[in-house]
Amino acid sequence: MVSFLRTFSTYVGKRMDRQLLEKNARELVSPGRGILAADESNGTMSNRLEAVGIEPSSEARRAYRANLFSTEGYESAISGVILFDETIRQSMDKGKQITQELSERGVLPGIKVDTGAKELAHFEGEKITEGLDGLRERCKEYFSMGARFAKWRAVIRIGDGMPSSACLSTNAHALARYSSICQEQGLVPIIEPEVLMDGDHDARTCFDVTSSILDATFAECEKQGVHIPGALLKPNMIIAGKDCEDQISREEVARLTVDCLTKHVPHELPGIVFLSGGQSDEDATAHLNLMNNLGVEHPWQLSYSYGRALQADALRKWSGGSEDPASSSRSAFLHRAKMNSLARSGDWSQDLED
Ligand code: 13P
Repeated sequence: MVSFLRTFSTYVGKRMDRQLLEKNARELVSPGRGILAADESNGTMSNRLEAVGIEPSSEARRAYRANLFSTEGYESAISGVILFDETIRQSMDKGKQITQELSERGVLPGIKVDTGAKELAHFEGEKITEGLDGLRERCKEYFSMGARFAKWRAVIRIGDGMPSSACLSTNAHALARYSSICQEQGLVPIIEPEVLMDGDHDARTCFDVTSSILDATFAECEKQGVHIPGALLKPNMIIAGKDCEDQISREEVARLTVDCLTKHVPHELPGIVFLSGGQSDEDATAHLNLMNNLGVEHPWQLSYSYGRALQADALRKWSGGSEDPASSSRSAFLHRAKMNSLARSGDWSQDLED
């Protein structure tokens, strides 16, 4: 009897944990809202601040981000913010924890948990994302600090002989391991296998490579018991490489991307939140808008988890040039957030940019 009760209560506990993951995953892709990726590593954020003439430091990174998070009304367009380890421990200007500020606005705090893409041994030019060691303990701590979702980015480069099958399989395996550990600790995993835009490959090659990494990743997720309704996918769009002469139209990007996802993503997944990957702000918005306007049936919400495409203008404005850089930066962020919010329902148009 005692052992029956123990088994029964474990079963009920697991069911409730799964329901909570599903609820948070659905909330992240609720209508008209998407994710702000503000999880640039200290090195990347410092480079971005330096590029606009700001001396980088922990305080400079905090001040810039705290200003973004205090923008009036952005919560109608932003359901979650991905933070970096440094930021999740930092406070707003007046001392309130950043996680508390976000939660009070109804914005879910998220956390980047990988420790970066490192050289893949024996495969020059390719990367494997690290960070599995100690991940369970880190997730536990982040959950106790208020995080409810996480991100792990795998990087796939297209080039001569690349990607190798070793690159695809090791990254897919790590993405599934990360997802399982996050779910065990109550965090919704955002699964990000990014096929880079660097190179001169055409859109068809991007389609094929994206198909391969999606297949490998979801096969590993299935093997490792990842609960797909409690996860989100963060993919690249299907775009020709930056140096390819044969660029395709916005309409083709939208059509090929939805086609690729339809063929290679499980239908129980609640949502797909795209990365911007170096696209211009307006291209990232226009592509999402077209996808949501295609009139093609698909089972998931199509949304955004943009870093640069939500922040590039806000960062430029933060560096000065106006009477009130803080306010100009917040306005620039709010504008892009609203434009992408409209793209969720296919209601964005070019004239709204002006
Ligand atoms: P970008 O939108 O700038 O590609 O950043 C998204 C992201 O989180 C990359 O990991």
